Amino acid sequence: MTDQPALTSRQQLRQQLRRARQQLSQQQQRQAAINLASHLPEHSLLQHASQIGVYLANDGELDPHLLAEILHARGKQLALPLLHPFARQQLLFQRYQPGMKLLPNRFGILEPKLDKSQVVPLYQLDLILLPLVGFDGDGNRLGMGGGFYDRTIGALPVSQRPTLIGLAHRQQQVTSLENQWWDVPLDAIATEQEVHQPYRH
Ligand SMILES: Nc1ncnc2c1ncn2[C@@H]1O[C@H](COP(=O)(O)OP(=O)(O)O)[C@@H](O)[C@H]1O
Ligand SMILES: [Mg+2]
Repeated sequence: MTDQPALTSRQQLRQQLRRARQQLSQQQQRQAAINLASHLPEHSLLQHASQIGVYLANDGELDPHLLAEILHARGKQLALPLLHPFARQQLLFQRYQPGMKLLPNRFGILEPKLDKSQVVPLYQLDLILLPLVGFDGDGNRLGMGGGFYDRTIGALPVSQRPTLIGLAHRQQQVTSLENQWWDVPLDAIATEQEVHQPYRH
């Protein structure tokens, strides 16, 4: 019960941040996607990664589809998350080529059809580009509230975890987020303008 006020404000913050990104115009979204794709592929974290998890934009998220096309053209192997068939509120990553056939899952988000031969074990990914609702300067991440990425990545020993880069519109930054024990922190956040790398001890 003691954490009730914090949890309530987390929920309110989600709503507020989601509404703001949903209000971005198509033109603003398009420009943000172009800007992201023009700077992020040159970053050393991307240059050093060959197996990269990406996502398809939903709910006003910063759209990485142009970025994915560039990475694919540069020979990177891409993977897309899909809802795990039996591990509750976890994700699986499967090989992805831009343009491949996708189907909506129960949240209406497009994903590849489950094909065991195409599943990429999480520890084989060098990097995951993940969506978020809010972030702060310390690399804390607020998601949509399902804890999917936290559970999926949290199941791996720290030494085997891929590098995690959250993608977000600049306006999704907040002063400070209260990190819970299960929240997996981000190594970097890339906005349409720049890459923030929080200092870690
Ligand atoms: N590794 C985990 N083990 C158990 N429960 C988890 C784990 N990660 C997240 N959860 C649960 O998922 C729920 C949503 O997590 P939260 O961090 O608030 O969502 P999001 O990361 O999507 O913003 C929380 O109630 C939390 O207890
Ligand atoms: Mg979380």
